[in-house]
Amino acid sequence: MVNDDDSGLDEFADWFLTEEEAAAPASQQLTVMKKICMLGDPAVGKTSLVGRFVFSMFDDKYIETIGAKVTKRTMAIERKSTRQRFRLKLMIWDIAGQKTLDFIKPTYYRDAEGALVIADCTRRETLDNVLRWGQSIREVCGPIPIVVLVNKSDLREHAQFTTEDAVEIAGRLDATSFMTSAKSGENVENAFSSLGRRLIRDTLKRDEAK
Ligand code: GTP
Repeated sequence: MVNDDDSGLDEFADWFLTEEEAAAPASQQLTVMKKICMLGDPAVGKTSLVGRFVFSMFDDKYIETIGAKVTKRTMAIERKSTRQRFRLKLMIWDIAGQKTLDFIKPTYYRDAEGALVIADCTRRETLDNVLRWGQSIREVCGPIPIVVLVNKSDLREHAQFTTEDAVEIAGRLDATSFMTSAKSGENVENAFSSLGRRLIRDTLKRDEAK
């Protein structure tokens, strides 16, 4: 479902974000580094979402991304049942939306372990293209987790598609989806943390299976 709030995070009820300096002692603290990619059509808000998530800022100006830009942020995530605490270092690759650079994108995708695929709620075609973006990164990286963001929720009165449409498209990628706004900040933290928790959970599962 498209989450307007935290309610869609039940799958991760055992996982929550903590402040980095949280006082409670954790039985373990592991550092996990992951590369994730921001994908979607031009001007859907990829750079702005990174700006909100990493720097808590928003700018109305549109400066087209050329190539790719990498930004880092560390999140602290705790697993309630075991008190395990993880420092998740995200290397966030913000990849240009323009089609003319398609030939180079597989190089940028390499070693990514998750992706945020973004649509702009005011432009229907950006939602249709979410599938294409999701499939293109999975062709390079395999069945990595994807979270779909329907961005510019502050402009939802101009929306060209419904939340059901978004849920349907996200479902085809086996992805969770969120209505976000880089402008207001709505759900930005939730969307990134949803992917972050999934990445850590998958890492632990892989380690347990070894
Ligand atoms: P490319 O670099 O072309 O791939 O674009 P992008 O997806 O990185 O888009 P960018 O973040 O540069 O945003 C494009 C325009 O949309 C800018 O003018 C932003 O200010 C605006 N924008 C981004 N997010 C939001 C949002 O949540 N709400 C509103 N109202 N505007 C937004």
